[in-house]
Amino acid sequence: MAIKDRKLDHINLSLKKNVEFKNKKTGLGDVNFGGVDLVYKTLPEIDKEKVKCGTKFMGKDFSAPIMVAAITGGVKKAKKINRDIATACEKVGIGMGLGSQRAMLEKPELVDTYKVRKYAPNIFLAGNIGVAQASSYSTLEIEHALETIEADALAVHVNAAHEAIQPEGTTDFSKGIKTISRLAKNLSYPIIVKEVGSGVSYEVAEKLAKTDIKAIDVGGAGGTSWTGIEYLRTKKKKHTFWDYGIPTAVSVLEVRKAFEGEIIATGGIRSGLDVVKACVLGADLCGVALPVLKAQHRGGTKAVEKYLENLIDEIKTGMFLLGAKRFSDLKKKKYVLLGTTKEWIEQRKFK
Ligand SMILES: Cc1cc2nc3c(=O)[nH]c(=O)nc-3n(C[C@H](O)[C@H](O)[C@H](O)COP(=O)(O)O)c2cc1C
Repeated sequence: MAIKDRKLDHINLSLKKNVEFKNKKTGLGDVNFGGVDLVYKTLPEIDKEKVKCGTKFMGKDFSAPIMVAAITGGVKKAKKINRDIATACEKVGIGMGLGSQRAMLEKPELVDTYKVRKYAPNIFLAGNIGVAQASSYSTLEIEHALETIEADALAVHVNAAHEAIQPEGTTDFSKGIKTISRLAKNLSYPIIVKEVGSGVSYEVAEKLAKTDIKAIDVGGAGGTSWTGIEYLRTKKKKHTFWDYGIPTAVSVLEVRKAFEGEIIATGGIRSGLDVVKACVLGADLCGVALPVLKAQHRGGTKAVEKYLENLIDEIKTGMFLLGAKRFSDLKKKKYVLLGTTKEWIEQRKFK
C-alpha cells in the first residue's frame, strides 16, 4: 500500500474507531495517570488568577507546558489539518510536531502539506522521521527536509511495536542507536527521540543519554495504540499487543532517572491534571495528539484553539490546587503512586 493511502487510513481510523489503549486508559484503574495522585494543598496560599504556567522548551517560549504531538503530513487532507493546528498553536502560544516527513522525502511535491510556518511564525516546530527510515537517508537529505519546512528540531520516532504489527512495517531496527547518534552528532538541528505509544525504559534512556540528543519524548502507553490502529486496519481478530508497552507516567519516572535532558510526556494526556501529574513526575512538556485531531475534525482552528484553552485552564487549576504559582514550582511537589504503578516502580527500584 502507498504511504499516502496508509496515512489516510491512520487519520480516518483515529477519527472513526476507538483506537486508544483498552486497559491502560488514563484515569481508569490504577495504571498510567490513574496510578498517580498529587497531594492537594488545602490552603494553596496563592491567587489562582496569578498562576503562570508558561515555560521554555529548547529555548522557545511556551504559554503552557504542552505541544501538539506529531500527527500528519504527506496526504492532501493533511494540508488543512496542519494549517488549522498550526494556526491554533500560534494563537495559544504552544509548540507543534509535524507528521513523518518520509512522504516528502520520497515525493518532494508533497512538501506543501507540511508547510505551516507562515501560519505559525513564532512557535516551536518539530520535523519528524522514523528511525527505521532515517537510516537510509543521508544527514544532508534530512537537514534539507528540516530547512524546507523551517523546523526548530527533529523528532526521530522509534516505533518498533507499531512497525512489528504493520504488514508493510520496516522491522530492521539493528541500526537504531547508530542512526540516532549519527544524526545527533551531525545535524545542525536538536534531536528529540520520540516513541509513539509504547514508552521508553530506563535502560534505553541510559543508552540515549550517551548520544548528543537533546530530548526524549517518552510516548508511553495509555493513549492512542499504534498496534491497535494496525489491527483495525488489517481487520485482525486477535489483538495480542494492543495494550503493550510502558505507561506514560511510569516511563517519565524511568527516563528521568537516566537522562538529564528535556523530557516530553506524550501518550494518553487527556486533561490538564494529567499534564500537571506528568510534570510533577519529571516531564518538562506534554504532547497531545488524538484529542487535537478530533477537535480539528469537529471545527477546524477554532475548535482546536478552544480545546487547548480549556486544557491550559485545567493546568492552571491543577497548579493552583498544589500551591504552585509558577511552572518551576511543580518540580518540588510530592506525588503518591498507587496500585500497578507503585508495584512497577518498586520492582524496578527507581523511586
Ligand atoms: C493520526 C495520527 C498520526 C500520527 N502520526 C505520527 C507520525 O507521523 N510521527 C510520530 O512520531 N507520531 C505520530 N503519531 C503519534 C503521536 O504523535 C503520539 O505520540 C501518540 O498518538 C500518542 O499520543 P495521544 O495518546 O495523545 O494520541 C500520530 C498520531 C495520530 C493519532
